[in-house]
Amino acid sequence: MICIVILGAAAYFHVDSLESKPRDTGSRVFTRVPSWLYVCLLAIFCIRIGSWASYKTTVAYHPIDMLIYDAQTRHEHYINQTSSSKNVLEAVATYRLRYGRRPPPGFDHWYAYATARNSVVIDDFDSIDRDIRPFFALPPVEVRDRTWALIANPWNDAAGISIRGGQASISPNVVPTHRWMLDGLVEMISKFAEFLPDMDLAFNLNDECRIAVPYEDVESMRAVTLPTTSADTERNEFSQGRAEQWTPIPQEPTSETPLHELSWQRTFYDFGSVGCPKSSPARSDRHWQVGDTCTSCTQPQSLGAFLGNWSLAGNVCHQSDLANMHGIYLSPAAFKASHELYPIFSQSKVHGFNDILYPSAWNYIDKAKYAPPEERPDPSYMDKNTTLFWRGATSEGVSHGMGQWRGMTRQRFVHLANNINGSGAAQPLLIPQAPFVEGRHTHSQLAYSNVPIADLADALSTDVHVVEFIARCGGRDCPQQETEFGPLVAPTDFQDHWQYKFLLDLDGAGFSGRFLPFLQSHSLPFKAGIFREWWDDRVTAWQHFVPLDVRGHGMWATLAYFAGVNGTINGRHVAVGAHLDEGERIAERGRTWANQVLRKEDMEIYFFRLLLEWGRLTDDARDEIGYDVNAG
Ligand SMILES: *[C@@H]1O[C@H](CO)[C@@H](O)[C@H](O)[C@H]1NC(C)=O
Ligand SMILES: *[C@@H]1O[C@H](CO)[C@@H](O)[C@H](O)[C@H]1NC(C)=O
Ligand SMILES: *[C@@H]1O[C@H](CO)[C@@H](O)[C@H](O)[C@H]1NC(C)=O
Repeated sequence: MICIVILGAAAYFHVDSLESKPRDTGSRVFTRVPSWLYVCLLAIFCIRIGSWASYKTTVAYHPIDMLIYDAQTRHEHYINQTSSSKNVLEAVATYRLRYGRRPPPGFDHWYAYATARNSVVIDDFDSIDRDIRPFFALPPVEVRDRTWALIANPWNDAAGISIRGGQASISPNVVPTHRWMLDGLVEMISKFAEFLPDMDLAFNLNDECRIAVPYEDVESMRAVTLPTTSADTERNEFSQGRAEQWTPIPQEPTSETPLHELSWQRTFYDFGSVGCPKSSPARSDRHWQVGDTCTSCTQPQSLGAFLGNWSLAGNVCHQSDLANMHGIYLSPAAFKASHELYPIFSQSKVHGFNDILYPSAWNYIDKAKYAPPEERPDPSYMDKNTTLFWRGATSEGVSHGMGQWRGMTRQRFVHLANNINGSGAAQPLLIPQAPFVEGRHTHSQLAYSNVPIADLADALSTDVHVVEFIARCGGRDCPQQETEFGPLVAPTDFQDHWQYKFLLDLDGAGFSGRFLPFLQSHSLPFKAGIFREWWDDRVTAWQHFVPLDVRGHGMWATLAYFAGVNGTINGRHVAVGAHLDEGERIAERGRTWANQVLRKEDMEIYFFRLLLEWGRLTDDARDEIGYDVNAG
């Protein structure tokens, strides 16, 4: 209860300060908030509110107001710490401070490239550091050999790209499927290949991620201290003769492989959770009561019924129930993986995997593009249809007759939105109670109630459907899904999305390729997923998009906040206004921010910096080379 009081007080202040200032002062409003409020905000994130299944709690202000407010501060902090370097000398100093080593050779070229393209992000490339850090525990020759082992055998579903003499090319033995991916990669790398050393790279052709080194091993690899170079040995260039150090890719493929195959099988216990400490629930508990909500799994990232912490939501270590909640863990279509640290570049990954993230060619070459046609322009937020919209295939994993589809995120959300057979559990909703009078003041308050989906579906509009046919199924799981999700709808043009206010975004077999175009639009994306991409640090939940728990329990309550409610709820007529301005602000901030930090130029800048790091990491002289400020 203490928590609720603080929450109410803090939210009260928030509302007050917003209303007393003109709208265009924007973020300045927030900097005048007294410091005690920050203490309260912290307190709210550590104190947990009771189980969502039994909300009886009343709150004076809506948790989403709090979350939006908090996101603004986080985002401001993010910008402050990533754009502070104003010249290459400062960028080098910041780099050394952050990452405890010198920048790689060619950093000056990278800096010039990034600033020429007005990159907002200059200093914060923590995600690159997280991904490559463990590889410093391997000698350069080992990293090169492991790259070869991945691309020499086509069964591994890894494609090689070679850089030689400043040119990028596709390895000879690559199978022609996924040609678009490799062509896109070559196009992207060619923009800056002249600055890269000779090297080979292994790219994951599958959507699913590949390398999960157990926590015990990878933590000690991360802890390896990097040798400090003395300034006089330092060279701002890669070693000579690198081309010969990479074993040629054989024309005749090898048949050896370091990978184990677990396609169409459960992967959570062997791979999904091994990146967690042994004592964590993901490794020590098995969550058998699949019908019940695992409250210890949801509470750390929840604020009431809402998703409060996007990074914790992606952390599987406290979420043992995810074993039964996602295609990647239940039955991935393709899963060839290793517990050893093999270097593979992937478009996305889930927690605990050691794949190296890079900007997907899918977005770079516009496989899904935000391009509203002239005759059907993207309407303003206020003019859009107030519906939560999703179209997609059952492609998250393979349901081959064991009923795995019932756990998959996509299927669960379609079920949740459509109240199929009236079989879904009642969902939490936070709605105003009758006002109460205290002295001279009348207080309004909000209370949670559990509401049958039928009531929610009458009061709120969703259009969430599986398209055309049931994909990736076998045995009885095909007809059962057809009955459950039928009638399946015709495919829609991608550009039709923009007529809807709320666009649901769900993981597939890997990341969702639609999220970036969703952000670029005037619509408001609602994202539920555990796959993370290269941009995860730069985009802030509640500032740029609306996050949902993959379990789905906050979906209706979140939609109700933005859309308003007008209908019969538990036998009583409820009419609650929509939070139109809040929704429009997030939609527009996401759009503006995407056009600043998720442009194609930003993908190149990220990739360029990553490949310079990779060049240094695979260089026999990696402890002696680096960008020398004095020489620069
Ligand atoms: C960001 O920097 C500005 C200007 O230096 C400062 O006023 C503000 O408090 C900072 N915001 C955060 C959240 O750190
Ligand atoms: C999420 O939780 C982590 C770990 O407890 C914390 O460091 C971070 O600040 C939290 N983020 C948000 C948005 O509350
Ligand atoms: C809004 O979208 C829903 C779902 O697609 C549709 O049924 C409804 O007719 C649309 N409303 C308007 C005004 O176009």
